[in-house]
Amino acid sequence: MTDDGGASPQGGTNDGPTLREVANRCCKRIDVGAAVLPRPLFDADYDDACGRGEAKIAGATIEPASGDAAAECPLPDPSASGPNTTRYARTLSSEFNSVVIEHHLKWAPLCHSEPGPLEDLRPSERVGRYDFHHCDRMVDWALERGMRVKGHVLCWHVTTPSFVDKMSPGEVREQLRRHIFTTVGHFRGRIHMWDVVNESLAPDGSLADSVFLRKLGPSYIEDCFRWAHEADPGATLIYNDNKVEGMGGANAVKSDGFYRLLKDLKDRGVPVHGAGLQGHFSAGGTGRGRCPTPSMVRNQIRRLGQLGLKVNLSELDVRISKLPPDSDLRRSAQVAIYRDLVAAALAEPAFDGIWLWGFTDRHTWVRHFYYEDEPLILDGNYRRKPCYYGLREALGTLGPGGTVGGELGPFLESDRDADGTSWGSLWMQPEPEPEAGPKIEADSAGDSRPDWEQGRE
Ligand code: G3I
Repeated sequence: MTDDGGASPQGGTNDGPTLREVANRCCKRIDVGAAVLPRPLFDADYDDACGRGEAKIAGATIEPASGDAAAECPLPDPSASGPNTTRYARTLSSEFNSVVIEHHLKWAPLCHSEPGPLEDLRPSERVGRYDFHHCDRMVDWALERGMRVKGHVLCWHVTTPSFVDKMSPGEVREQLRRHIFTTVGHFRGRIHMWDVVNESLAPDGSLADSVFLRKLGPSYIEDCFRWAHEADPGATLIYNDNKVEGMGGANAVKSDGFYRLLKDLKDRGVPVHGAGLQGHFSAGGTGRGRCPTPSMVRNQIRRLGQLGLKVNLSELDVRISKLPPDSDLRRSAQVAIYRDLVAAALAEPAFDGIWLWGFTDRHTWVRHFYYEDEPLILDGNYRRKPCYYGLREALGTLGPGGTVGGELGPFLESDRDADGTSWGSLWMQPEPEPEAGPKIEADSAGDSRPDWEQGRE
């Protein structure tokens, strides 16, 4: 499909400055980035093929695909495409000043992309065989366009090669160390910031069961940071987790655990420099899935900042499909979350970056892992949605003439406006009746999978 909607270089009927232009005018350096995937970035046919003929959520239509919708496509041939050949690429480089690689820089994809029958190899032979070519290509593409690159992620049990399960504790430790040195060393000078450890916390704030905890004990976390620091002493090193974005509320026990973990690492001199709050929000969520308020986000960032950490929103997206099917309501909720939570975050001096987990509803992990939804700031045809403007307004509060918090000032401390209306009252959903509602402790007991994998809202 080549129809851009005809109105802008990005491919939609768009107006006003891009997010990147607004970020450039902020009174401090703010990374405004998005997670990227190689296929839509380099392969226009794949980007077209992901179009769908119908939209199920807010009435927007994603233009029909020219080929099989969402077909299995091979990864792009590096020699086949020139620079910025896809709408995805053009939009990304005009809207953002940073990228993070959504999947391919994790341990398993780096190893599993080796050709040949991997089962024939003993683990110790196989783990040394890295294939960086997809990531090299994405990183170089971004750097050539003046964008920064955040590395995601060095240690995450979910995307760890299965051969690790069969290793002795000594081998696991050695291979984890080797993975970090190999990967950080490969990108030294190109990737300046790493998510070092991801989602190590259980819903109750303790360390979650994982192959690393079982084989190495709790010290695996600090070891990862020390190895990453040794591999690139100039890199900014981040601990990243989810359902830790707000202080207090239904996730207080986990966000307190997040704070305690980081405080302990800092107190003991471990080289950790930042905290990543993922920000996979669901506007209609209840219980532990309820979206935090601006003051909760601000308070969480403030206390992390007092530890001497930088703080970012690392995987922001906002699902709306659990709200009643009223497009005005869904639109308002999505605008409020993108605008007000980002404005609240930007109001804290420690806050220095936002990465969206994708940017167009044409390509979102939510559709594959959860359900049909439209969680991102551009629609499936790369047009700006109302929440795009909400996010841009929030960024503008740090621009010339902006005031920190902007019009949202009253909400940032109390979650109430001057009339006493509480934030989100229009669209936040009531908690279900107690007997039908989520039993948080019982739900969490014995389930060590990450929150997003447990399918809770
Ligand atoms: O690229 C391959 C393709 O070659 C293959 O044909 C196809 C077959 O299914 O898979 C493609 O890879 C998929 C990849 O996403 C790219 O789309 C993988 O199967 C799939 O497992 C992978 O999922 C990613 C997941 O992390 C695991 O890495 C999601 O895109 C990504 O959004 C998700 O991101 C995580 C963060 O890293 C951590 N926080 C939660 C977040 C959401 O789950």
